[in-house]
Amino acid sequence: MKILFYGTKNYDEEFFTKLLPSYPGIEIKFIEANIHEETAALAKGYDAICAFVNADLGTSVIEVLHQQGVGLILMRCAGYNNIDLPTAHKYGIKILRVPGYSPEAVAEHAMALALTANRHTHKAYIKCRENNFALNGLMGVNFYQKTAGIIGTGKIGQAMAKICRGFGMKVIAFDLFPNKSLDFLEYVSLDQLLRESDLISLHCPLTDDTRHLINEESIAKMKDGVILVNTSRGGLIKTEDLIAGIRDHKFFAVGLDVYEEETDFVYEDMSERILPTSTIQRLLSFPNVTMTSHQGFFTVEALTNIAETTLDNAKAYMNGEELKNEVFS
Ligand code: NAI
Repeated sequence: MKILFYGTKNYDEEFFTKLLPSYPGIEIKFIEANIHEETAALAKGYDAICAFVNADLGTSVIEVLHQQGVGLILMRCAGYNNIDLPTAHKYGIKILRVPGYSPEAVAEHAMALALTANRHTHKAYIKCRENNFALNGLMGVNFYQKTAGIIGTGKIGQAMAKICRGFGMKVIAFDLFPNKSLDFLEYVSLDQLLRESDLISLHCPLTDDTRHLINEESIAKMKDGVILVNTSRGGLIKTEDLIAGIRDHKFFAVGLDVYEEETDFVYEDMSERILPTSTIQRLLSFPNVTMTSHQGFFTVEALTNIAETTLDNAKAYMNGEELKNEVFS
């Protein structure tokens, strides 16, 4: 079985190559180019392609893949909001993903962002390096005895809720499907969560229902001085409304690992380029905003699990076994 890996970074190649000897019959070709209309035709002669969160798997790309005879899309990630599922299914193309590879990796990053945004550790480090030992601009707030509001209590939201609990916070949550086994937190309505939380962390998927969940109206319901963290998907927040809220001094701090504009730039070094848009720069112009570039998943444990599950998915397809991680429309 031949698989073409799109958008490969050195760490993808390292973790997949390490495990490949345990999967006889599977051959991988790694290429740096990401998948889009012009590169989809490179899949000619391959049984499957493998792509990541930043891939364009829209209608026209799926059509090209079908023309090349590709029968399987292996997502080496959990999310699949970038795939035109009905078109893929129309052509009988299977889609397999990695549903959970290390929820703790993302949750720990969410807390790291919350702490960095709150305590300005990114600025403190630079100040110390410049022999500036003054504390002005670095004051934060305690998390202890504050209220954390978790939106989406799936695998990552639960891990974040446990971390917040460990910090001595009261944890409240909103989910369409409350999980009764999480007895250390209290499920509340979205409005109550917005009203009462000192720290709000987003962990629900991006769907038609959740797009722009954080907007002018929901921001107005939040406490003044709230800390907002998004490690889920950029589209959950209406960025213009967030910027207006930051200007109104609504937020004590904001930590973003994902943002609406990211697809074109994510995982690329753009430092020598003139960017066509400036939303990210506007966000970063505020002293209380901290951003990272979709790196919540980026730990040794998570990359090992991603490689293992992706190769298990490929093996199951190759051997005609049950496809446990199939995505349906
Ligand atoms: P999951 O599927 O285990 O949990 C999602 C939860 O959201 C479920 O409990 C579901 O009931 C809930 N939900 C769905 N619609 C909702 C709504 N309208 N309102 C409130 N809750 C709703 O997913 P998991 O593994 O916890 O991942 C969460 C998200 O994290 C993913 O969708 C993905 O976007 C993001 N992610 C980010 C990564 C990063 O590197 N920053 C890495 C992996 C995932």
